[in-house]
Amino acid sequence: MKIRKAIWPILVAAPFMVAGCGNSQNASASGDAAGEQSSFKASYTADGDLITPENWREWVYVGTPVTPHGLNNGAAPFPEVHSVYIDPDSWEHWKNTGEFRQGAILAKELTMLITDGANEDGSTQQVSGRGFFQSGVFSGLEFTIKDAEQYPDEPGNWAYYSSGHAPGVEYPDTMEALPTQACNTCHEVNASEDDFVFVKFYPVLKAAKGG
Ligand code: HEC
Repeated sequence: MKIRKAIWPILVAAPFMVAGCGNSQNASASGDAAGEQSSFKASYTADGDLITPENWREWVYVGTPVTPHGLNNGAAPFPEVHSVYIDPDSWEHWKNTGEFRQGAILAKELTMLITDGANEDGSTQQVSGRGFFQSGVFSGLEFTIKDAEQYPDEPGNWAYYSSGHAPGVEYPDTMEALPTQACNTCHEVNASEDDFVFVKFYPVLKAAKGG
């Protein structure tokens, strides 16, 4: 797997272990055997860059928009299958309130399609029919985080991070927040009804919305 080496283990057995390390936890779950509530929290370098959260594939999966190169003149802006996840604490909060909590983290991981025998539109014939099938090649990792304290000047208090897009791209250990116009603006304009998140494309979030 093309994922970075762990900085911290995702499951920290006891909160004091984190405190003792002189760094905050890296979007990891903390909580003890007594059932203390876990907390997913982004952490940052001294320069304010995001320490790439870990284990997003084990968060709650919410939906998968698909934009094949074959349907986008050979160059989809987000190639090609987009799997979106939300951190478990924010999922709970969403189910209860229908809102994104302060600290909410959503991940979007991109995957290329299988190309062997592909039609012009990028589809292939597989056992289940003609359609779009993910290859094992990841092509990008993005996060958006809502935090009024961390991002007081960003519209909606959402900041955006990306590994960049390329088949087999190596994910960096840290990511710099991207300029507002590069990411936030499109989200603000096109997903204003759901606090900058494209809930309309995520059936799992739509079905679970509380409040
Ligand atoms: C042209 C509009 C547009 C721009 C620019 C854009 N996005 Fe998005 N983004 C979308 C759409 C539409 C979705 C819904 C899922 C999908 O189609 O991939 C989305 C979904 C996401 C998600 C999943 C959570 C959510 O908010 O729905 C993340 C994370 C994300 N984008 C990060 C970024 C980053 C990082 C950038 C800047 C590099 C960026 N986006 C720029 C349109 C945009």
